Amino acid sequence: MDNHPLELTINGKTYKTAVEHRKTLADTIRENCDLTGTHVGCEHGVCGACTVIVDGKTVRSCLMFAHQAEGCKIRTVESLARGDELHPLQEAFIENHAIQCGFCTPGFLMLIIGAYENDPDITEENLIEVLSSNLCRCTGYQNIIKAVRSASGGLLAIGSDADA
Ligand code: FES
Ligand code: FES
Repeated sequence: MDNHPLELTINGKTYKTAVEHRKTLADTIRENCDLTGTHVGCEHGVCGACTVIVDGKTVRSCLMFAHQAEGCKIRTVESLARGDELHPLQEAFIENHAIQCGFCTPGFLMLIIGAYENDPDITEENLIEVLSSNLCRCTGYQNIIKAVRSASGGLLAIGSDADA
């Protein structure tokens, strides 16, 4: 199969590459753009480890072709920290022991940020519903929920980063 030129905008930066039409956004982000914070688990839309934000919507990047994302604003977990300064949600994950192996964490961070950007007043019930769409085999979810609660003030500030 032939590679076709592709230009992606990820975290405000342009990446020029060439990939087959069938290559997923997840694999392209990792392999062509060297942004390995986005993890790939199931590769068929179940686990959510590959969650990124595309034009303001959370997307399972293993279910999207990279060429479909051309012209979109893509945000990955690498957009969150500012140098050595972690995003408040990342800090809250650490403080609340919401990370064990960490494989699911990038997907959860982007899932939660996307949820708050779309609904800053999201109810606890809806938040739990959103969190249930990603899989974590280690934490039992309780500490992830605690982290989100403790970061909720900081989460509301993320709207200003929406176009990063
Ligand atoms: S790797 Fe995409 S949903 Fe599991
Ligand atoms: S921390 Fe291991 S899968 Fe979530």
